[in-house]
Amino acid sequence: MAVNRETLDTLLEENRIFYPDKEFVARANVNDRAIYDEARADTQGFWAKQAENLDWFQKWDRVLDWDNPPFAKWFVNGKINACYNCVDRHVLTSRRTKPAIIFEGEPGDIRTLTYEELQREVMRFANVLKGLGVSRGDRVAIYMPMIPELAIAMLACARLGAPHSIVFGGFSPESLRDRINDAAAKLLITADGGWRRGKIVPLKHNADDAVAECPSIESVVVVRRTGQEVPMIEGRDYWYHELMERAAAECPCEETDSEDMLFILYTSGTTGKPKGVVHTTGGYLVGTSTTHRIIFDHKEDDIYWCTADIGWITGHSYVIYGPLANGATTLMFEGAPDWPQQDRFWDIIERHKVTVFYTAPTAIRAFMKWGRKWPEQHDLSSLRLLGTVGEPINPEAWIWYYKNIGGGRCPIVDTWWQTETGQIMISPLPGITPLKPGSATVPFPGINIDVVDKQGNSVELGKGGYLVIKEPWPAMLRTIYGDDQRFIDQYWSHFGDRWWYFAGDGVRRDYDNYHWILGRVDDVINVSGHRLSTMEVESALVDHQAVAEAAVIGKSHEIKGQAISAFVTLKEHVWQEIRNGDMDRKELQKALKAHVVKKIGAIARPEDVFFTAELPKTRSGKIMRRLLRDVAEGRALGDTTTLADPAVIAKLKAQYEGKES
Ligand code: PRX
Repeated sequence: MAVNRETLDTLLEENRIFYPDKEFVARANVNDRAIYDEARADTQGFWAKQAENLDWFQKWDRVLDWDNPPFAKWFVNGKINACYNCVDRHVLTSRRTKPAIIFEGEPGDIRTLTYEELQREVMRFANVLKGLGVSRGDRVAIYMPMIPELAIAMLACARLGAPHSIVFGGFSPESLRDRINDAAAKLLITADGGWRRGKIVPLKHNADDAVAECPSIESVVVVRRTGQEVPMIEGRDYWYHELMERAAAECPCEETDSEDMLFILYTSGTTGKPKGVVHTTGGYLVGTSTTHRIIFDHKEDDIYWCTADIGWITGHSYVIYGPLANGATTLMFEGAPDWPQQDRFWDIIERHKVTVFYTAPTAIRAFMKWGRKWPEQHDLSSLRLLGTVGEPINPEAWIWYYKNIGGGRCPIVDTWWQTETGQIMISPLPGITPLKPGSATVPFPGINIDVVDKQGNSVELGKGGYLVIKEPWPAMLRTIYGDDQRFIDQYWSHFGDRWWYFAGDGVRRDYDNYHWILGRVDDVINVSGHRLSTMEVESALVDHQAVAEAAVIGKSHEIKGQAISAFVTLKEHVWQEIRNGDMDRKELQKALKAHVVKKIGAIARPEDVFFTAELPKTRSGKIMRRLLRDVAEGRALGDTTTLADPAVIAKLKAQYEGKES
């Protein structure tokens, strides 16, 4: 496993500890360590107790069915509806008039939906969906900006038992098309556009390009957000507001099964094709609501803000399902942190009196770069708890966040989890766990995580290894949509016949049993907390007519965590054209970057594209990306003995350094 020495050394130096504040502890939802022993002694009993916090139409008759691993069933034969738990049940209580969603748009428009109002909108929209032929089990694709209609659409799908498949609005038409086709979605919900730094993201335009090649799509519902003219296709496209006007007000919740699919969410794996991660209903809701309540120490009067886009798992679990199941007020923001100025987030926190704030290290590093002067202009005293997710946070960024945003009084929960885990798996409990900057600390109660070597032996404390999860957990993915074999191969086949989940991350456990995530050990790149596979970007590059071969790596980046570096060999005639001066090197680099954006989306844009005559390969023809990473990060080359021709990498390194000097 590639455990990076440098990371290890910095982590080893980090020995500051921050203890929970007495007052915080006194008020914390969980402040007794006994929760860990309790959950260990009877894990299923622990989850069953958590499940009691939800409303079930019919109680389960078995907590876990693990008879046919790795296919788990949680709360077997339980009947439950996610929308009912996130909306309707709160309307029956004093939460009826409590804000469920506080929305702030990029242009500054604010809209608050109480639980009662949310229910009204969701019921109407569920009727709209029904009217367009959506029924239980049908997949619905969603490609929208961060606006309340996105939440309404998700919840309406959940209400009908129609799984949603949300595609992040930054993805290209081709990415959208592939995801729609993989899920064979019947209907697409989109918007005319979304706001991004004062400009319009042309969602409907992209959707039209995608849907032209999606035979399963019967109708497209379009929310009017940005207001520009968009073409509407008669008989296929409908305006959301027009359908809503005509929709009936009442719509009952389907009594879905605990194991009915709630949603599919596509994520990158080690191969080129994105995987449709399948989450079901009962276990997912138990996992997300429990972790939200305990880790974010949820209080009735909290104004909770998770900055993730709903298009990612963090948005699914911790903007919508977890918080709303707990009757929280969740804030949704459409825009970027630096628009119109670099204090937008602090301004939002001050105006809405946000109490709990959950964001990503990549954002924190950007805040650090923009400087203290921005948060200093705002009153952030409403904050009482901070969180981070998506990638390892470097101790300097942690300390900056702690001091400058948390005013030295807010615990920081560094939460490790994945699209596949559905719920947070490793995290401090803010009323219990002493914090070490840069460590996600310890597994959540009831979660059995180990650090093992290649053979599956637990490594000693102080050492690094692979992160595995040894027992099923409620919000775990159930399969890869339409591909059980890939599900087995990818996650469950690494340690012989033991049914352990392999997460793809390296981790070091220190002498206090704290976990320090070292990043991916496979071909997945983590750019700004978003997963991309090297293969996906490579296929996009090779798709360009000038490219013969491409190798893509993640290189350390000050703000993004990792940035994409592409090493590209060109077709012979293209070299010729460059040599003849018929083609400009820089223009071609630009064109290749643009091509990747077109194929995947802006998040996949390579930071740099380097042309090389050859790529370093093993004798069996495998590209050695590890060596390219050494080159890109300016390190001495690691072991080159398995290379077919060591001269290739030596030459490449010299050229690369020449380029940079
Ligand atoms: O490498 C880990 C990193 O993000 C990966 C999961 O990515 P994704 O499925 O997109 O979900 C991101 C949000 C849950 C993990 O395999 N990661 C996530 N959280 C952390 C992290 N790395 C270190 N520390 C974290 N807190």
